Amino acid sequence: MSGRYALFGHPVAHSQSPRIQRAFATQTGIDCAYELIDAPPAAFPAALQEFFAHGGRGANITLPHKETACQLADQLSDRARAAGAVNTLRREPDGRLLGDNTDGIGLVRDLTANNNIKLVGARILICGAGGAARGILPVLLAENPAQLVLANRTHARARELARQFTGCTAQEYAALRGQTFDLVLNATSASLRAELPALPAGIVAAGGCTYDLAYRDTPTVFQQWSKANGARLALAGWGMLVEQAAESFWLWHGVRPATHALLEPVSK
Ligand code: ATR
Repeated sequence: MSGRYALFGHPVAHSQSPRIQRAFATQTGIDCAYELIDAPPAAFPAALQEFFAHGGRGANITLPHKETACQLADQLSDRARAAGAVNTLRREPDGRLLGDNTDGIGLVRDLTANNNIKLVGARILICGAGGAARGILPVLLAENPAQLVLANRTHARARELARQFTGCTAQEYAALRGQTFDLVLNATSASLRAELPALPAGIVAAGGCTYDLAYRDTPTVFQQWSKANGARLALAGWGMLVEQAAESFWLWHGVRPATHALLEPVSK
């Protein structure tokens, strides 16, 4: 047995992560357990400590604990430090906890390797300025886009986030009218309530693509909006979820699983 692994969140009951991690374990022949642990914020630090004190070797962390996990880790990868959030913890042989963030690289792999979307020289727009936007921002900037713009309902939040990273700017949604982007990412939580960020029409460049970090069994409202607004590809976050899981698996087990079998085209 290669140890216990778990996803911590609140809520976590409907997470697909166990299915993905178990598929990777079967594929690679690695014998490990992957559990779901629902911990409300006040109970999270103690639940994490208890888990690692009783055979826990690695954990995924989801909402609302990613920032707290960043504070609890003994050591951070550069990308976790840049994101200010941890979605993967690994217990080192000396007992210390390494915090990493595989969300951004998961997104970039899904865009570039799985969907052949070029980020170098691309004009990119991110909607949202919360934790999800922050998690993907440094990794997208590292791909050398021509332009990276942040837009958010509460403009001050976008301005504050843009201030912390070189190479991106903040603009209000209304000020985007007349501009076009090769890639428009929805990092807001609006999709969860079937709402849309206030994007002007005509924002997706000819041949441009969109990506909703959220995903559903049926196309999200943002995917529907994207198709109606001429996007060549209107993707959603299933591929990102699979790819971030593969990166976490690699971090824990030192083996990189193949992801193609899990990347069913959800709805494009
Ligand atoms: P997360 O960690 O998932 O990013 P968050 O920090 O609460 O969650 O951020 C949610 C993001 O979605 C914010 O950028 C929020 O905009 P505000 O900063 O103005 O609150 C954005 N958001 C949520 N609902 C939205 C909606 N209906 N339209 C536009 N943006 C929305």
